[in-house]
Amino acid sequence: MALYNRYDVRSSSLVPPLMNVLFVCLGNICRSPSAEAVFRHRVEALGLSNAFHIDSAGTLDWHQGNPPDPRSITHGEARGYALQHLKSRPIVASDFDTFDHIWVMDAKNLADVMALAPEHAQHKVKRLLSIAPQLEVEDVPDPYYGGADGFNHVLDLLEAASDALLHHYLQKYTLVPNN
Ligand code: 4NP
Repeated sequence: MALYNRYDVRSSSLVPPLMNVLFVCLGNICRSPSAEAVFRHRVEALGLSNAFHIDSAGTLDWHQGNPPDPRSITHGEARGYALQHLKSRPIVASDFDTFDHIWVMDAKNLADVMALAPEHAQHKVKRLLSIAPQLEVEDVPDPYYGGADGFNHVLDLLEAASDALLHHYLQKYTLVPNN
């Protein structure tokens, strides 16, 4: 019999989000919306949507209100990830209370987000690829000024990181896939 140590993720109408997860990059139009879409796809595939609140944000507001970069949409869609409905937004102060974990893409994002984070929330901020040390890569590189290879490399890294992240959450919270 399945054991749930905090919530029964199957009783959807009664269950608050178990984990509030925010992905952050610079512009919130390439890497972090892709991370949001890849991770959400995996969560949905396991029937665990009710256990997660997933969002993304940027450290700058240049693209606020815009959809992801068309290259991220195209390369994501080619792998089955839905990005076209997402809208860029900057990280805001309340995110440090709303979210349990804030996963950033690179060292610059880490420095920028830590500079904004109140002391009580600093432990929530981590580099995403720290969850997948087997990759031996610390940063999800910014693909914005490059070509198609860069966008595919980002997706490769995000898929591996999302697998590791989901495994981490499943173990930590004894979540049992519903599918
Ligand atoms: P992202 O990529 O941080 O992965 O969304 C970028 C998007 C926009 C810019 C740089 C990086 N920009 O300079 O506008």
